[in-house]
Amino acid sequence: MARNGLVYEYMFIAIIVAVLAGFISSLAYYSYALNVNPACEAIKADQQALEDIMQKAQTTPVVEKAEGVYEVYIVGRQFVWIPSTIVLEDPKQVTFYVATSDVIHGFEIAGTNVNFMVIPGYIAKFTWYPPKNAEGEYLILCNEYCGVGHQFMKATLIIER
Ligand code: CUA
Repeated sequence: MARNGLVYEYMFIAIIVAVLAGFISSLAYYSYALNVNPACEAIKADQQALEDIMQKAQTTPVVEKAEGVYEVYIVGRQFVWIPSTIVLEDPKQVTFYVATSDVIHGFEIAGTNVNFMVIPGYIAKFTWYPPKNAEGEYLILCNEYCGVGHQFMKATLIIER
């Protein structure tokens, strides 16, 4: 009898291991094979770094490092994105640096794969390679509920070709 009991235990252990292996391999498949990655790089930022990014967002939010290679500085605040309009001319590579001056916001450019969380105390860094046919006006919205004006929190990205 005791031996039979052990057989069942091994059987259940095998099932558990198989289920776990299934979960882990499906995660690996999504992240490596399909390149579906959660969010962005979150860089720990002190008060000075956050003030710097706020300064850039208000004065020079778009910096062209090389032809078509941009850095964009954005700050989220209840209930606006600063700046409210971003214009990029023929972008090939766009690195967004996004911070928040209050609560968690979600930075999303509708219709693209740009979609990540912006967390207090961190600068969210995300590099986007816009497809060649990306052109015109894009809606930037906030996809994390951040208070009573959440639904009004938006900005515009304009891509000129
Ligand atoms: Cu910011 Cu919702």
